Amino acid sequence: MAKTLDARTRAAAAERLRFFREMGVYDFYRREVPPELLERLAASEEQAAAVMEEPAQPLPVAATETESAAEMPRKSTVSDRIAALRVIREDLGDCTRCPLHKLGRKQIVFGVGNPRADIMFVGEGPGADEDEQGEPFVGRAGQLLNNMISAMGIRREDVYIANVVKCRPPQNRTPEREECDTCSPFLMRQIAVVRPKIIVALGAVAAKNLLGVNDSMANLRGRIYDFRPMLSKSAPEYDSAISTRLAVTYHPAYLLRDPRQKKEAWKDLQMVMRELGMPTPTKSGE
Ligand code: URA
Repeated sequence: MAKTLDARTRAAAAERLRFFREMGVYDFYRREVPPELLERLAASEEQAAAVMEEPAQPLPVAATETESAAEMPRKSTVSDRIAALRVIREDLGDCTRCPLHKLGRKQIVFGVGNPRADIMFVGEGPGADEDEQGEPFVGRAGQLLNNMISAMGIRREDVYIANVVKCRPPQNRTPEREECDTCSPFLMRQIAVVRPKIIVALGAVAAKNLLGVNDSMANLRGRIYDFRPMLSKSAPEYDSAISTRLAVTYHPAYLLRDPRQKKEAWKDLQMVMRELGMPTPTKSGE
């Protein structure tokens, strides 16, 4: 017998549907949900509730570890990681290491999210809204990133979000090589602390800086890379064994300019979800 949904669930379902439509996914098929999946979802709900009280509990997606991810050392506690991130923020200080500090930045935009996140999104650099609020991806591009995250079946609080450069480039210009090179060590240290199972590089600037290659988005997308953060041996987080995965997708600001590419971005996110063993909505129930 058909069950009716409460208003909140209906609104959430409508929002999810709207997002998939924007992504170019139109066909949905009803599928019987196997009892094991229902149990797993219920367990994830419980974990999600725990995350709300203690923001740094293991994520729902951590329930399904891929073999490779399981090898990664992820033992440090939440408070260890919060403290380690605080040390990095303190080391940044009121940074004057590159020209961006005198080009109109209001504040440093460090990073936000779950210090034990399985997924870390890395953007280019703060825009006006982020500079104002001190948090990455809070403007229009951030709204779209939030939608992308929720289409994956997770929440913004579940992931960690940071940028290659932590200060707003004037007029939102692309950060220069020197600015990226100066700021990257701090991003590498954030990665070493959070130890995500996968990093999603948003756009070419993030992808090129993280991977250290100069290639087109067309060539960079569509595969999963092995990634080791480049850490100075003197960094407190230095550990030669840290290794994670990395995928590249379009920057949300680019998707706002060219929404036809959302379909491609969704393919990238589905690849990330498969890598983590997360259930992915299929088009035909196959
Ligand atoms: N674009 C980015 O690359 N990062 C932000 O934080 C906001 C917009």
